[in-house]
Amino acid sequence: MKLIESITAMKEYSSALKKGGSGIALVPTMGALHAGHLSLLARAREVCDVSVMSVFVNPAQFGPTEDFAKYPRDLESDRALAESAGCDCLFAPSAAEMYPDGYCTYVDAGPIGDILCGAARPGHFRGVATVVLKLFNITAPAAAVFGAKDAQQTAVIKRAAADLNLPVRIITAPTLRDADGLAMSSRNTYLTPGERKQAANICKALFEAKSLFEGGECSVERLKNTITSTIIRGGLIEMEYADIVDPVSLRPFPANTESPALIAVACRTTESKTRLIDNVVAG
Ligand code: PAJ
Repeated sequence: MKLIESITAMKEYSSALKKGGSGIALVPTMGALHAGHLSLLARAREVCDVSVMSVFVNPAQFGPTEDFAKYPRDLESDRALAESAGCDCLFAPSAAEMYPDGYCTYVDAGPIGDILCGAARPGHFRGVATVVLKLFNITAPAAAVFGAKDAQQTAVIKRAAADLNLPVRIITAPTLRDADGLAMSSRNTYLTPGERKQAANICKALFEAKSLFEGGECSVERLKNTITSTIIRGGLIEMEYADIVDPVSLRPFPANTESPALIAVACRTTESKTRLIDNVVAG
């Protein structure tokens, strides 16, 4: 596996591949790799000849009170994991090169980035859309793979790719879960043992709501109440939101849920103050 740390070298690698007739599938990540990230790599390897994984903890998507400084970073471990999963190239640029002095151009994700997680994290999706477009311009991929776990992020990128006529196929891969259902996340390492135990209720609540809806329960309010009560029941977790929305536009269903529906939640644990998100598609 190749490790590339400069933008120029990455552009050269990509254009040489293109000249040779090969296409790149990109998997953007912030590192602290887990099996969920590696499953995206497996998908990337199915769709293109060459897989490139980027590892970059993007300062532009963290709010001033968020966990940018303590976000887990371990390039050596990421490198070994990516290589063992068959990655062809790991691209790990520096923040100084991605956002040099004087940097001032950002991609506005529009209203789709202001709702759900965007309501509690102003500017987050602007930062995500900006770095993802930069990564697309640097690596020139034919396809890019994103996880269904970050449903709003995937919707924002799909929207931006369509709106800006990007020549990149955006692929969504399923959420990988631990044995008890908790969606894998680099932030799960922050959880205290008690919180980790309660966190399994998040996935449980989502699948309960999915089966209630698929069994005929259409009331958005009743479905939301069921989700909330299951998640907060054991303590240690507080709700940020539970919402039932159109999976593409992310527009909320006002009273009755239509099909298909994206059931999405964000919560925060009370001890380590870890923010956890998850979702399912129902209908
Ligand atoms: P990060 O949180 O590292 O996630 C990188 C990719 O892995 C995203 O597409 C995310 O949806 C996916 N992913 C995370 N957990 C997953 C799981 N349990 N199962 C399947 N896929 C999973 O998301 C980001 O980084 C950043 O916002 C980024 C897109 C890299 C821009 O900075």
